Amino acid sequence: MHLHKYEKIWLVFGIGSLIVFLLILGYGAFWQGTHPQSHGATIDPNNIESHEAFQPENLGLTKVEEDKYIVNIVASAFNYNLGVHEEGAPVRKIRIPKGSTVLFQVTTPDVVHGFNVAGTNVNMMVEPGYISSLETVLDNPGEYTIVCNEYCGVGHHMMYATVEVYE
Ligand code: CUA
Repeated sequence: MHLHKYEKIWLVFGIGSLIVFLLILGYGAFWQGTHPQSHGATIDPNNIESHEAFQPENLGLTKVEEDKYIVNIVASAFNYNLGVHEEGAPVRKIRIPKGSTVLFQVTTPDVVHGFNVAGTNVNMMVEPGYISSLETVLDNPGEYTIVCNEYCGVGHHMMYATVEVYE
């Protein structure tokens, strides 16, 4: 079979790109730990409080044991509900000691939102009817902004909260 010179160039380019893409995918999956959820957890979006994790008193940061935390969040237009302080003001910032294992569980009653703890590997899509969860270890001290990276309406850019990882 005779192949034209340009066909050979395109074949090499095409196969080469495929290999490069697979290497990038493999690097993300096996070295950086990027992966989809192991299973889908569902919830009634019209009655999220029927799930224990999203009852008002269980929102925000909860210490489970030494160095283990759970953070339950309800994302809605245009806010992340992390519970309330004792005096009634909404929690805008959670503080977690460095090296802790943290399980984030997020759901929404309205539209699709994003949940990205910028600068970490926590980056989830939050869809009505599902619980998005991800466990991670926060090793680097600093302030991280939780941002919504799915356009959800006019207040999309005002949707944020803060995670502080301290020594
Ligand atoms: Cu919520 Cu964009």
